Amino acid sequence: MPHSESQVAAILADLNDAQREAVTHRDGPMLVIAGPGSGKTRVITRRAAYLVHTGVSPHSILAITFTNKAADEMRQRIAALGVARGMWIHTFHALGARLLREFGPLAGVDPGFTIYDETDALRVIKEAFELADVSEGLLRPEQARERISTAKSRLQTPEDVSSVAQHHEQVALAQVYAAYEALLRQRNAVDFDDLLLRVATVLRDHPDITERLNVRFRYVLIDEYQDTNHAQYLIAHFLDLPPPEHLCHWRPGSEHLRLARGGHPQHPGVRARLPRRQDRPAGAELPLDEFDPAGGIASDSRQSAPAA
Ligand SMILES: Nc1ncnc2c1ncn2[C@@H]1O[C@H](COP(=O)(O)OP(=O)(O)OP(=O)(O)O)[C@@H](O)[C@H]1O
Ligand SMILES: [Mg+2]
Repeated sequence: MPHSESQVAAILADLNDAQREAVTHRDGPMLVIAGPGSGKTRVITRRAAYLVHTGVSPHSILAITFTNKAADEMRQRIAALGVARGMWIHTFHALGARLLREFGPLAGVDPGFTIYDETDALRVIKEAFELADVSEGLLRPEQARERISTAKSRLQTPEDVSSVAQHHEQVALAQVYAAYEALLRQRNAVDFDDLLLRVATVLRDHPDITERLNVRFRYVLIDEYQDTNHAQYLIAHFLDLPPPEHLCHWRPGSEHLRLARGGHPQHPGVRARLPRRQDRPAGAELPLDEFDPAGGIASDSRQSAPAA
C-alpha cells in the first residue's frame, strides 16, 4: 500500500504523546506498560494501521491476544482502520492451530489433526484410566485432566512427570498422562494445550521453521502479554527472535515488569534454557498511563480521527 500522509495523520491525530510514541516506534523490541482502559488495544490497532500505511505489508504483521472475544474485537478494530486483509490476528490457540496445519507436518505432526475440546478431552482421560489400569479412587479424572493440562502448559512430557513422581498418586498421574497421549496420537487428535505445546516444541526444535516465521512476521504485536503461560511465553519468544519487535502490554505496578529487565517471575527456567534472550535489549519501555479517559484529548481531534 502506498505511503499516505493523510491516513497516517488521521491514525495519529487522537493519540496522546505516549500513545503516539508507541504507535510510531520504528525498530527493536518494545514493552508498553499500561493500566486498564489506558488505550493499550488502541495502540496495537493504530500501530498495525500505521505500519501498513508506512509501507509494511499486512502479511508481515502478527497480532496476538488471549480470548476469542478479544481477538474478534481486535480484528474489527483493525478492519475499521482498513488494513486487516492479509494480517494474522489470532488468539494464541488459533495461531497454534494455524501454524501446526502449516508447519506441523515438517515436524511430524499430521496436518489433518482433530482438535478436541474439554468434553472430548475428559472422555479420553477416562479411557486413559482404563487403559493404564488406574483406579478413579486414586485420582479423579477431572483432577488428572487439570494436572495434565498444567504439565502440558509447562512443556512437561509424561516421562518428565514420571521422573519426578514420588507418591502412588503421582505415578498414577504419569501413567494416565502416557495413556492419554497414546490415545490422542492413535486418533490423530490434539487438545487445547497441545495447540500451544506442540507449536512451542516445533519452534524450539526446528530453527529452520522458526527462522522462516521470523522472516515472515517482522512485527509481532501481543496484547495482554502479562497473561502468558509458559508455553505461550515460549511461542512469543521464538516468534520474536531478532529482528522482529515485540509489543507487550502490562498492568502497572505488577511484578511482570521484571521482564523488561530480562527475566520473568513466572518462568524462572526460561533464561537458562533460552540463552539468546539474555543477548537481547530489553527494549523501549513506554508508560501509557498519561491518557485521561475523562477528557485528556481535545474533542475536535477525536471526531475527525478513526474510531478504533
Ligand atoms: N487518546 C485517546 N483519545 C480518546 N479516546 C481514547 C484514547 N485512548 C484510548 N481511548 C479510548 O479509551 C477506551 C479504552 O481504550 P482501549 O480499549 O484501547 O484500552 P485498553 O488499555 O486496551 O483497555 P483494557 O484494559 O480494557 O484492555 C476506548 O474507548 C478507546 O477508544
Ligand atoms: Mg485492551
